[in-house]
Amino acid sequence: MLTDKHILLIVSGGIAAFKALDLVRRLKERGARVTPVLTKGGAQFVTPLSLSALSGAKVYQDLFDLTDEAEMGHIELSRAADLIVVAPATADLMAKMAGGQADDLASTLLLATDTPVLIAPAMNVRMWDHPATQRNLATLKSDGILTVGPNQGDMACGEYGYGRMAEPLEIVDAISDALADGPLKGCHVLVTSGPTHEPIDPVRYIANRSSGAQGTAIAKALVALGARVTFVTGPASVPPPAGVDLRPVETAQEMLDAVKAALPADAAVFAAAVADWRVASASDRKIKKEAGALPQLTFAENPDILAHVAGLRQGRPALVVGFAAETNDVVAHATAKRARKGCDWIVANDVSPETGIMGGSENAVTIITAEGAEEWPRMGKDAVATRLAARIAVRIADQIAGMPT
Ligand code: C5P
Repeated sequence: MLTDKHILLIVSGGIAAFKALDLVRRLKERGARVTPVLTKGGAQFVTPLSLSALSGAKVYQDLFDLTDEAEMGHIELSRAADLIVVAPATADLMAKMAGGQADDLASTLLLATDTPVLIAPAMNVRMWDHPATQRNLATLKSDGILTVGPNQGDMACGEYGYGRMAEPLEIVDAISDALADGPLKGCHVLVTSGPTHEPIDPVRYIANRSSGAQGTAIAKALVALGARVTFVTGPASVPPPAGVDLRPVETAQEMLDAVKAALPADAAVFAAAVADWRVASASDRKIKKEAGALPQLTFAENPDILAHVAGLRQGRPALVVGFAAETNDVVAHATAKRARKGCDWIVANDVSPETGIMGGSENAVTIITAEGAEEWPRMGKDAVATRLAARIAVRIADQIAGMPT
């Protein structure tokens, strides 16, 4: 429920603007108060009348409207809300935000505010992929702007790819997450998840069977406790969680770069199954099959991302959590791994085939900390995630309070 939460909803110009009407309806259903702001472009797609009828509120459109200024000045308007939501956020508005421009009501509100901002980008796939948009997105994220979507799919222009605005219910979820008060509110937690793909040539790669389910569940549980989560994920087979800052990567090297770019963080959870080796002899052309000739692959060791972050002298997260998948002597191996990697906790699990854990929905873990090993009963991966997130919250709260843990 979003009872009594005040959302300032900026609707900019794109075909996805029609979904903003449904978004208003969903927000009202949950008890939110919605004040719409319609840009010039937005008004080409939806009318102020329909936005006003659905929100039951006045629609603001002009920066220099004396009546509006007399009722509520634009500075006040930008600060009165609990959250500013931009849906759809066009490439143009994102560029303005990233550049700090303020030449109309929407961009001025966004520059004048100290209220959290959530954007739901929507645009043509090429515009989304363009380096300028990706640069602006990175700037906005580092400014603390929250994002939801875009999703992949068919587009109004007939193309296929990333650029479809997130569905209204996904945006509602992201809004609820952004407004959630939890013990991790104000904390930034980095989570790695999924496998990595290490190319052999442009069409072939080496991978592993990680589904990304446990990492995804952990990210969800952290978001539910109010954390700002940066989710660095390899090509997983489960969909990414809502409400995170999503950083998709393929290789271990890309994962390391994304992790470095996401720091500083208060805590970091390394649930990814990172490939130990990459193909040093990877070809930039498809290797041809020749009768009787077998390709020779040579390997190079991948960087250990967990060990790198755990060993940082400056900017090390206060809590670094690693995972250990073992098939025997779980506690002994995981305890040694904790020391070797320099992390604070190791979440160890027995992945021998008879446990059915790898790829399954349950997990049986042992948490190794400085105090020793603590065995948790077998439970769903979601339950493991909830319990781990709660433990992280307690530990970080203690840290903030300056208490020894
Ligand atoms: O050494 P091993 O792969 O068993 O260690 C597992 C832990 O280390 C996991 O937390 C995993 O995410 C992390 N790891 C990493 N980078 C690597 C290898 C493992 O972050 N290259």
